[in-house]
Amino acid sequence: MTNTFVPLLIFGAGKMGGAMLGGALKAGWPASMISVIDPNPSDALRKQAEAEGFSLNPAAGTGSRLVLLAIKPQMLDSAAKTLSAHVTAETILVSILAGKSIADLKARLPQVSKLVRAMPNTPAAIGRGMTGAYAAGNLDDAEKALVFALLKTTGRLEWVENEALIDAVTAVSGSGPAYVFYLVETLAKAGEELGLPPALAMKLARATIEGAGELLFQDAETAPATLRQNVTSPGGTTAAALEHLMAQDGLQPLMTKAVKAARARAKALAG
Ligand SMILES: NC(=O)c1ccc[n+]([C@@H]2O[C@H](COP(=O)([O-])OP(=O)(O)OC[C@H]3O[C@@H](n4cnc5c(N)ncnc54)[C@H](OP(=O)(O)O)[C@@H]3O)[C@@H](O)[C@H]2O)c1
Repeated sequence: MTNTFVPLLIFGAGKMGGAMLGGALKAGWPASMISVIDPNPSDALRKQAEAEGFSLNPAAGTGSRLVLLAIKPQMLDSAAKTLSAHVTAETILVSILAGKSIADLKARLPQVSKLVRAMPNTPAAIGRGMTGAYAAGNLDDAEKALVFALLKTTGRLEWVENEALIDAVTAVSGSGPAYVFYLVETLAKAGEELGLPPALAMKLARATIEGAGELLFQDAETAPATLRQNVTSPGGTTAAALEHLMAQDGLQPLMTKAVKAARARAKALAG
């Protein structure tokens, strides 16, 4: 069995790379096995490196088995040369770059053949992320387990069987947190229309989504539809509202339309 913790290089320690770094350290990944490359490290990152003991901006050739690529997609071309010095044929490269395909990565890093394209989301920052990932070609089960060990440090991971589905993952869970934040805004606004003071309406809406999300999290065995039915008495207040939300022209067709637009945009950005 392969050791779960192997030398890890995090290339780009911004919001997402930083969250992955924090997650890996929290999960017990030995700091001595972690290197981070970031050309303009913040003071916080420097201090963190000193305090935790991971290596910041080491010279080329860290020999890291796992490399997490977490720069902005538009930086890929300018970073490819530096990155190239840190990868070999044995490297497992995990890219979270939106819109950059396996073919794009192979074109810039021909020596790497073990490639994973992953799409995390922002709750990764608090260890409650949802990542969808596609493993290209020749990763064996032990190598996939290494990637799993890395990506699950920020939450959950599901594999998809073909690369095109990454655009669907982007549309559902990658962009999904923003839909939920907007749901809070719309619920608060509706509360205002019922006469609630704006601040109170926002408190009620926000706490409701927080609590409902936590219920979903803690009661993972129960289907969302059952949780909904459990609070919907026939002829009651919730039923009166759901009649509109669940109408033929209600939330479902709107959500499907929105998610399809996100997927189309993901495809277009990938070029
Ligand atoms: N945030 C999300 O919700 C989310 C979700 C899914 C996927 N992603 C993907 O995650 C990636 C990172 O996004 P982010 O929001 O974390 O961006 P970010 O905060 O801007 O982080 C990118 C980091 O990479 C560094 N960097 C730039 N050029 C570099 C180079 N040549 N070598 C090494 N490091 C370099 C940047 O340093 P400087 O600041 O000095 O330029 C910055 O620290 C993107 O590709 C995005 O598509 C993000």
